[in-house]
Amino acid sequence: MFEIDKIRRDFPMLERTNEGKPLIYLDNGATTLKPDCVIAAVNNYYQNITSNIHRGDYHLAYLADQAYQQAREVVADFINCQSKEVVFTYGTTHGLNQIAYGYGIKNLKKDDEILITVAEHASNILPWYRLAQLTGAKVRFIPLDEKGKITVENVKLALNERVKIVSLTHGSNVLGYISDIKAIAAAVHEAGAILVVDGAQSVPHIKTDVKELDCDFLVFSGHKMGGPTAVGVMYGKYQLLEKMEPLLLGGGMNYRFDIAGQMLFKDAPDRFEAGTPGIEAVLGLKAAIQYLQNIGMDKIALYEKQLKDYAVSEMKKLDNIIIYNPEPDIGIISFNITDQGRVLFGQDVAAYLSKHGLCLRSGNHCAKNLWHHLGTDSTIRCSLYFYNTKKEIDKLIEVLKTATLESCIDVIF
Ligand SMILES: Cc1ncc(COP(=O)(O)O)c(C=O)c1O
Repeated sequence: MFEIDKIRRDFPMLERTNEGKPLIYLDNGATTLKPDCVIAAVNNYYQNITSNIHRGDYHLAYLADQAYQQAREVVADFINCQSKEVVFTYGTTHGLNQIAYGYGIKNLKKDDEILITVAEHASNILPWYRLAQLTGAKVRFIPLDEKGKITVENVKLALNERVKIVSLTHGSNVLGYISDIKAIAAAVHEAGAILVVDGAQSVPHIKTDVKELDCDFLVFSGHKMGGPTAVGVMYGKYQLLEKMEPLLLGGGMNYRFDIAGQMLFKDAPDRFEAGTPGIEAVLGLKAAIQYLQNIGMDKIALYEKQLKDYAVSEMKKLDNIIIYNPEPDIGIISFNITDQGRVLFGQDVAAYLSKHGLCLRSGNHCAKNLWHHLGTDSTIRCSLYFYNTKKEIDKLIEVLKTATLESCIDVIF
């Protein structure tokens, strides 16, 4: 049983307004609202156990240490790996940069290849471009199919003996497709490469088991799953983490160093967590994961699927809409609004929606290579989470019906 009314009461932001209208938050691909338990976990750190981790010998520091380590166990349980394979990062972006730098610099050489797609977020493109610049390796793009999906067949066709890294999104942040990571991982491994998975848009919405997927790395962000900002996770198979260079050097990640410049780093995961981490954010992420687990990831996925199906079918009834992904797997729908055959500027429409309390993002959603496929570099994105309702979708549809060149321009001037 999915108790939506009870769930909604857990999110104080749902009682707030946007531009004086009841808040309808449909920008969950960007970040998500936080349940009370996450806010309480962050507050608890500030109010009751403030102290640094890995340093203090006093009891309070021990309590913070313990809570931080428990968070690692909770993440490990959530994605089914060992806790020593869980590295806390500042988010997906940090994790991908850490992998590109830490694994890539050591393992790639001139003319090796890195495979990505045009559907990737900037965070899963730019670190690879830089790795290519630093090593002389090449970035190649796996073609999407005509719908914009990453298919196993196209991955297989793109693989060859020069490919060392394949880095793909599990859930597209613009088209809402879920890739068959398990089959892709098998093909990538057969070709002798490793598979990095950007789970920013999948882990918050579908049950994720890294053993089952058999990916080599998986990264995701806490703030897209009800957790705080500036915390994320980099999962890596331990034998790969062991061989990887840390991106950041500093306190907490070394055993010793001397005036001759010698350094001895700790083992993973500590060697990747230099400096004071976002301790309260890690504890908030732990609370967020436990909250999701209490509801049940399968129930969340099912509810979101039903809501997404409803939203798509209602949007398809509009005669002033272009939907770029009419069959998404998860609750991400990208569209534009037209008036007399002209596509309205997405930001104008988003500003008009905002006047009615609706929060949706417009633009390229950091996937700036995707226009090659879409034929436009700007869409409006409706991205759902499990606290959204059909009633909110109805409101969106009602307002979209009235979005015209005139009504949207009125908002701006
Ligand atoms: C698919 C995808 N990858 C990576 C990121 C970057 O996440 P963060 O900004 O939390 O590092 C995002 C954020 O929108 C995303 O949607």
